[in-house]
Amino acid sequence: MSDFTSNFWSVYVAGITIAGIVACLLLLWITARKKVASDSNNTTGHVWDEDLTEMNNPMPRWWMWLFVLTIIFSFAYLAIYPGLGKFAGKMGWSQYGAYDAEMAQAKAELEPLYARFTSMTTEQVAQDPQAMAIGERLFMNNCAQCHGSDARGSKSFPNLTDGDWLHGGTPEKIRETLEKGRIGNMPPMAAAVGSPEDVRNLSHYVLSLSGSPHDSLRASLGKSKFVACAACHGADGKGMQALGAPNLTDDIWLHGWGEAAITAMINNGKVNQMPAQSQKLTEAQLGVLTAYVWGMSNKPGSAR
Ligand code: HEC
Ligand code: HEC
Repeated sequence: MSDFTSNFWSVYVAGITIAGIVACLLLLWITARKKVASDSNNTTGHVWDEDLTEMNNPMPRWWMWLFVLTIIFSFAYLAIYPGLGKFAGKMGWSQYGAYDAEMAQAKAELEPLYARFTSMTTEQVAQDPQAMAIGERLFMNNCAQCHGSDARGSKSFPNLTDGDWLHGGTPEKIRETLEKGRIGNMPPMAAAVGSPEDVRNLSHYVLSLSGSPHDSLRASLGKSKFVACAACHGADGKGMQALGAPNLTDDIWLHGWGEAAITAMINNGKVNQMPAQSQKLTEAQLGVLTAYVWGMSNKPGSAR
């Protein structure tokens, strides 16, 4: 595989490289032949600072040989490795080849390891210390930037350790989340609710669902407006995992709580995305990660 867009540039670059080496050879040859006339006392006759003279000794032999060796080395290198334009070198070495070989070796080493996990259930994988060590590393490299290194998330990035799920916490649902990604989409709802006062009242009703601090008069005024929300969050506000609509009664807030946060949610809606991982990770890695995530809120083997 060549990065040259045309044969011209390949020849051009190779030509400059060869010309450079040949010029070095010529330089060596010409200077070796050249005899500098010297005085009887073996100086060039140049004098500085009154009495500083320049001796006319030949270059040390070892230095000359290093120079020759460097030139021989460069020809040998260019014959074996790619360096002369498009010429691939006798060994056929390439960065792509080296990368593929390394990846193939890693795959061959890891495959038997992962093969053990693919034949196990999620619960069994979650109990396997080796699998969990791999899972932790995969999580740090692929997930921690959004969900945090302790997986407890932050605003807009869900906590994966609390047993509260937007899209479902069974191994199958978690696997589906990882493989295909998820988009949580709450449309702006202000128009369906009514006036800004109605939106404020409804916000207090939503806060009252989880027993969060709220104004109970406003909450009772807002209660009837919740019909606009029931299609997704359920009539009781307990959410609907098929739609990714969160439970509003559990005092766990993905986007913050309080009148301002909830009013903003109703007015502006929210689109929140978990990116699909199936292109990045192998089937076996997804299996291990599923168990790792599942295990964080389901302590395998012990009652919660
Ligand atoms: C670019 C940021 C980002 C990365 C990287 C990311 N996630 Fe997510 N993830 C999110 C967001 C945002 C959500 C919430 C989606 C929503 O609101 O519906 C989410 C949701 C989830 C959920 C669903 C939680 C629930 O309550 O149902 C799981 C499980 C999950 N992520 C696991 C992972 C794992 C494992 C990785 C690493 C392979 C990962 N995520 C990588 C942003 C990310
Ligand atoms: C079309 C479905 C849909 C409707 C209708 C809907 N929501 Fe939502 N709502 C969602 C989804 C999905 C999310 C999660 C967004 C995300 O993944 O970040 C959400 C998130 C929220 C949140 C944030 C919860 C948190 O943990 O931070 C609040 C509050 C909320 N909705 C209130 C309402 C209210 C009040 C109404 C009625 C006016 C309403 N929703 C109507 C789908 C809906």
